Amino acid sequence: MIDDLHQDTFLRLLHLLADGDYHSGEELGALLGVSRAAVWKHVQKLEHLGVELSSQRSKGYRIAGGLELLQEQAIVAAMPEGSAPPLLVILPETDSTNSYLINTQGLPTATVCLAERQLAGRGRRGRAWVSPFARNIYLSVLWRFEGGASVLEGLSLAVGVAITRALASVGIEGVSLKWPNDVLYRDNKLAGILLEMSGDPAGECQVVIGVGVNVHMAKDVAIDQPWTDIAAIAAEQQLAVPDRNSLAAALINELQALLQSFASRGFAHWQQQWMNSAAYINEQVCVLTANSEVCGILRGVDASGALLLTVDGQSQVFHGGEVSVRRRE
Ligand code: BTN
Repeated sequence: MIDDLHQDTFLRLLHLLADGDYHSGEELGALLGVSRAAVWKHVQKLEHLGVELSSQRSKGYRIAGGLELLQEQAIVAAMPEGSAPPLLVILPETDSTNSYLINTQGLPTATVCLAERQLAGRGRRGRAWVSPFARNIYLSVLWRFEGGASVLEGLSLAVGVAITRALASVGIEGVSLKWPNDVLYRDNKLAGILLEMSGDPAGECQVVIGVGVNVHMAKDVAIDQPWTDIAAIAAEQQLAVPDRNSLAAALINELQALLQSFASRGFAHWQQQWMNSAAYINEQVCVLTANSEVCGILRGVDASGALLLTVDGQSQVFHGGEVSVRRRE
């Protein structure tokens, strides 16, 4: 944990070391106004966060390769011209960016929370979302809707479309969407979406849209499903890895555009775009619910975002919730 008392010094140290150059303990101490021993303590904390540091007696400390930290200025500068300036909260760490937006009173609609790491990142179906420091994107948006929960039907699928559009805008193509809301690359999970709703199911409600994108996932993490990251895709496609601030800007831009028009358009507007990126179309899949498994041919989604399967020649419709799809073995 980054304790509040020394957070400011710690963050300034992090920004100084982020350039990847060597900095001596003496230089850092002078710049931060603390002793060399205090610098050393902060350096230990960085190592605790999983930041790889090298130190040389004659040169000091450095983060090999540098570190690209999330920065409001860089995100705002990377937003396309004409897009609304985002209301940003950037945290060095938090339990979960979704929880932050849910539990903080008085935040205006459209507030975006980003964190460098999550201590208790949450995935769908009670899973944890592995969230190491300064490697990936953990982003949530708060949005208020009138007209009750029914207005939000299909929103999580449309968020998948927004993510594929954002990825394409930074050069990452070939991503597919697995119903209801996994973002895959060659069958491996690249990004996840977690929507959490509260308020009046028949009136004003708020939704927090959480998006996790693996960018430079640490290689030794324990994740209980096949996964990939943007760094691996970029290496395969011989592209430069997009920087996290530009990726965050692209995601915010797409999500804002989606959320501004979703209530009036409904999912029908995104249905064809979703189908264009859908995984397993016309393939044999199985749909798993809490207590059943139904196998058939995946046909796509209807205008409400429900999954359409052909089972023994008959069409069957599945709605979201605690349901998942897998390719039939
Ligand atoms: C999934 O299981 O596929 C959904 C993963 C969602 C992860 C994101 S990271 C940002 C936001 N905060 C969370 O705790 N979860 C979501």
